[in-house]
Amino acid sequence: MSQWPYRTIIEPFKIKMVEPIPFTSRRERERLLHQAGHNLFKIPANKVTLDLLTDSGTAAMSALQWSALMRGDESYACASSFFVMERAVRRIMGFAHVIPAHQGRAAERILFSMIGPGKIIPGNTHFDTTRANIEAAGSVALDLPCPESKNTSSMYPFKGNINLAALERVLKKSHAKIPLVLVTITNNAIGGQPVSLENLRQTKKLLNRYKIPLFIDAARFAENAYLIKLKEASSKSWSVRQIVHETFRLADGCLMSAKKDGFANIGGFLALNNAQWAQQARQMLVLTEGFPTYGGLAGRDLEAIAQGLWEVLDEAYLKYRIRSTEYVGEGLMKSGIPIVLPVGGHAVYIDAGRFLPHIPEDQFPGHALACALYLDAGVRTCEMGSLAFGKNAQHELVRLAIPRRVYTQSHMDWLLEAFEMLARKKNKIRGYRLIKEPKALRHFMATLAPIKSAADKKLARALAA
Ligand SMILES: Cc1ncc(COP(=O)(O)O)c(C=O)c1O
Repeated sequence: MSQWPYRTIIEPFKIKMVEPIPFTSRRERERLLHQAGHNLFKIPANKVTLDLLTDSGTAAMSALQWSALMRGDESYACASSFFVMERAVRRIMGFAHVIPAHQGRAAERILFSMIGPGKIIPGNTHFDTTRANIEAAGSVALDLPCPESKNTSSMYPFKGNINLAALERVLKKSHAKIPLVLVTITNNAIGGQPVSLENLRQTKKLLNRYKIPLFIDAARFAENAYLIKLKEASSKSWSVRQIVHETFRLADGCLMSAKKDGFANIGGFLALNNAQWAQQARQMLVLTEGFPTYGGLAGRDLEAIAQGLWEVLDEAYLKYRIRSTEYVGEGLMKSGIPIVLPVGGHAVYIDAGRFLPHIPEDQFPGHALACALYLDAGVRTCEMGSLAFGKNAQHELVRLAIPRRVYTQSHMDWLLEAFEMLARKKNKIRGYRLIKEPKALRHFMATLAPIKSAADKKLARALAA
């Protein structure tokens, strides 16, 4: 798009197939939220007007992806679709061994249960499923976000970075217990913030001293590469393809949820260079996911992933993607809503802790905001604060995740108008307390209730303590 003299960046696609979006009344939404135990994950999707719960598996597939589905080879073993997907991963990311899985967390489970208990897995910030899988395998998930990430309003360009000084300290003390370090690009839990090439290079250099492998959680590798291109001086003239290549050259393996930058509705993989680990992982895969050439996926899914991985490298798409997310962030700021700055790739994160200072952490300000938005506008979002991460929460955030190639600018204008109105009555928003919670990943299944009295507040405080 660079040859055009216009300021406006347009969607670099046209729409061939459409799906109606539902509209509901406020009364209906009140009833639905009550029935759902005040948990937005339990609201039927056909009662959601704009669904910004997640960007995972929600992308609109391209005409080429839909046609690739028809090529899907559904043979049980050694289906040709696996080799198409393997070739794409090898050529884009450069790893020797590609092990498909039904989604990112399945790849996580295989890697971490293979590594076994009693280990420490440092990372820039582990995503919730990653942390849960590390802990389920009996190891410790250690978050080492860079200090700049603490301040949600600073414009530091690479808040997704790992804290190198802290990593060095941990390595010095506990290297024998560290089988790998995992860097998540972009850093979803901390506001979709990118990780710089320089940070990856320094991490790799440190790990080389101890012969510890570097793994990348690559869910949003292309968005991270485009943000590097925009912000990291040394690679401004590089193509996204070159940045992606350099990113993975520094790594020994990766975990990928293809439901994000793979433009796929389902799928993921583990890719790595260590043949012995790959062999072990394939053995575990057969137990629960399937034969190593399909790993829980249909042949057509493998085709869609392969095509998606190529498509996501299109710089016109990435330019539109990053700019359209930024547009939402700018609109929110105009209404005085504090967001995590700078805006990352796949989502805008509202700092609900700052927006609703009258709601303490133990009453889940992010969740309160997400529920208020659903009640007002039928928009579904996701809390990423004390409810999702418990005591590991760095901030009280609400994530507005933007599904890829799904909504247009007028949908986003509608969202911004809803927020503008909500901001005017924010003092009326009340906190929530937990009624029932499962042991792990509680935000998916928990039941909550709005706080109505001083006794409710006391109960919320006691539960959090
Ligand atoms: C950074 C990151 N890693 C891993 C996962 C898990 O992937 P999946 O949902 O495919 O299991 C997610 C999902 O949102 C994610 O954002």
